[in-house]
Amino acid sequence: MYDYDLLVVGSANADLVIGVERRPAAGETVLGSDLTVHPGGKGANQAVAAARLGARTVLLARVGDDAYGRLLLDSQRAAGVDTVGVLVGGAPTGVALITVDPSGDNSIVVSPGANGRLMPEDVRAAGSLFQASRVVSAQLEIPLETVVEVVRNLADGSRFVLNPSPPRPLPREVLAACDPLIVNEHEARVLIGSGAGPEPEDWARDLLAMGPSSVVITLGEQGALVAQRAGARVRVPSVRVEAVDTTGAGDSFTAALAWRLGRGESLAEAAAYAARVGAVAVTRHGAQESFPTAEEVAALCCAFPGDNPRTPGRKSGSEGLPGEPSRGEFQ
Ligand code: RIB
Repeated sequence: MYDYDLLVVGSANADLVIGVERRPAAGETVLGSDLTVHPGGKGANQAVAAARLGARTVLLARVGDDAYGRLLLDSQRAAGVDTVGVLVGGAPTGVALITVDPSGDNSIVVSPGANGRLMPEDVRAAGSLFQASRVVSAQLEIPLETVVEVVRNLADGSRFVLNPSPPRPLPREVLAACDPLIVNEHEARVLIGSGAGPEPEDWARDLLAMGPSSVVITLGEQGALVAQRAGARVRVPSVRVEAVDTTGAGDSFTAALAWRLGRGESLAEAAAYAARVGAVAVTRHGAQESFPTAEEVAALCCAFPGDNPRTPGRKSGSEGLPGEPSRGEFQ
């Protein structure tokens, strides 16, 4: 029996967000909205997303001994995340500078700060959390050697989920532990390199050859492609919503998928549920503030004007798979 459904190892950032009519090109200055500050960071986002859905969640991260660090700790605790693994001090809290345009798309620059001081020895010192967690999830806003140490500390029988964002080449040891590796097109192309083929099925084949047991490729309004080394390729449809801000929606997708895998769902079932979670998230501003409860995910059938929960052939509740094209993407 595990104490936690999910251990998230990763970053925690203060998100400094400005809305803009259009994101600036190189050398350009644009005027934007008033600045708002939100709790963010890919690791902290995943932890809040999972906890809000009902997962027993614990976060291993590092924040600064400063106001942004307290903002992040407060947000984790309010969502019900166990913060026993959040280390404080060593550098200022990580900061993300984010611009969001009217379509909901964003550009992000991260100053890692304390995230860059989450070290392999911090992972080793948290060994009891690894033993107590059914699924472990990580991203790449922390040092790569720390992610390597994460896979070396996985408990027998636990499952490892990685979203390699921001992407960089990964050691075979990390890739081989992934079940699944979750990537968007950009991340897939960086990992595969210049020989990447034109189709998602090509990327899935090439990524599986690098070692993961399974791969999930998120494809925006084309949904997602789920591929297992010993199984068929399955397309998961997207969910039709009106997007206002995509920030953090990919983190909520990964968290939801990791949690549902731990509950025994197939990869395709978990990805379908995760697509619904991400779809709700893009309809709201911010990252952590946008993540839904399980009840809100179940109500998604009514999120778009004209949607009818009694449409023939459409299932209701968390297992449903709306099959229409999306107006907004969450990756
Ligand atoms: O994935 C979204 C997150 O990326 C933001 O919250 C920001 O902090 C960056 O880490």
